Amino acid sequence: MQLNVGIVGVTGYTGQELLRRLRSHPEVRLSYLAARRLARPEPVGRLLPAFAKQALPKIERFDPAAAARQCDLLFLALPHGLSMEIVPALRKRQPEIHLIDLGGDFRLRSAAGFRKAYGLTHRAAPLLGKAVYGLPEWFREVIQGAELLANPGCYPTATALALAPLARAEKIGGPVVVDAKSGVSGAGRSVKPELSFCEVNEGMRPYKVDRHQHQPEMEQTLGRIGRQSPRILFAPHLIPVNRGLIASCYVPLKGKLTQSGLRALFEAAYDKEPFVRLLPEGSWPDTAAVNQTNFCDIGLAIAQTGKQAIVISAIDNLGKGAAGQAVQNMNLMFGFPETMALT
Ligand SMILES: NC(=O)c1ccc[n+]([C@@H]2O[C@H](COP(=O)([O-])OP(=O)(O)OC[C@H]3O[C@@H](n4cnc5c(N)ncnc54)[C@H](OP(=O)(O)O)[C@@H]3O)[C@@H](O)[C@H]2O)c1
Repeated sequence: MQLNVGIVGVTGYTGQELLRRLRSHPEVRLSYLAARRLARPEPVGRLLPAFAKQALPKIERFDPAAAARQCDLLFLALPHGLSMEIVPALRKRQPEIHLIDLGGDFRLRSAAGFRKAYGLTHRAAPLLGKAVYGLPEWFREVIQGAELLANPGCYPTATALALAPLARAEKIGGPVVVDAKSGVSGAGRSVKPELSFCEVNEGMRPYKVDRHQHQPEMEQTLGRIGRQSPRILFAPHLIPVNRGLIASCYVPLKGKLTQSGLRALFEAAYDKEPFVRLLPEGSWPDTAAVNQTNFCDIGLAIAQTGKQAIVISAIDNLGKGAAGQAVQNMNLMFGFPETMALT
């Protein structure tokens, strides 16, 4: 029997990407689609023309009772701050429901950390300890038993995959500089003047330098993989492309590490991983090669100083950085082949 799956926030960028992946998933029946600005249920093709003439339920205004009734699993693809209200209401109505949240509400372990990062008081703090962080390459076993899953952020996915082998080997010897660039879809679909075409096209700009809400998530994840959380100095940039994200990480090394030693750490971590591709020596990743996929491409080298490692990773912010990884997590949670509907 197919799994009844719903998407809340289906008109957004990650919601549409989920729809694209899930409608071809053989184990999934899309049973519920919801967004916000709707007076009455609308056919999908009227709001999202790319999905016209496909057998899909209408998009309706989100109603927790209807969602809980119609879904075994619900994806929440909403701006942060909403899921922490919605999740307790859904679980109260249907304790068995499985939830995958693509926003930041359940990624950090502490309510104080959440307040610091997002400037909001957490409304479901007791659930923070129960949510499972969904980075499959490092937390696969716990993901398999998850009922409430926090899907990682796009920047934290690219950064954690680039740094985790060094964190596990305790080779990080000081603050790590992460210089990252993301396409404009990373900011979501809602209208913001600073993201209009004329403001973004033909320019590049850093934002929230060393103040981005994803920084604590990166430190927390690496602290769980290694024995200590390295300090991250994070400079995200907005670049004028639709999608794609690249994270260039500069790591001061603890102790000696040769080029082949560095490579061996990454091969041990990722050789069997279906969605991480280590590039040959001297090659560096390109967002064009990962866009529309669930891959993370990684290039790496020891700097000529001999004292730093340089690791650069690229993902599709809407793929491995959001919806693709969420589907990978769903596959693990329900015992489907991990790569189903992702290759
Ligand atoms: N974009 C990325 O690359 C990316 C990557 C990783 C994680 N994320 C995270 O994923 C989440 C979704 O991001 P996004 O980029 O897809 O956002 P988005 O494009 O702005 O879409 C947001 C969606 O949420 C709906 N919505 C807003 N308020 C709602 C409410 N009160 N009730 C029901 N639906 C509501 C919107 O519906 P209407 O259209 O009706 O307003 C829309 O469907 C965010 O938390 C984001 O941080 C995004």
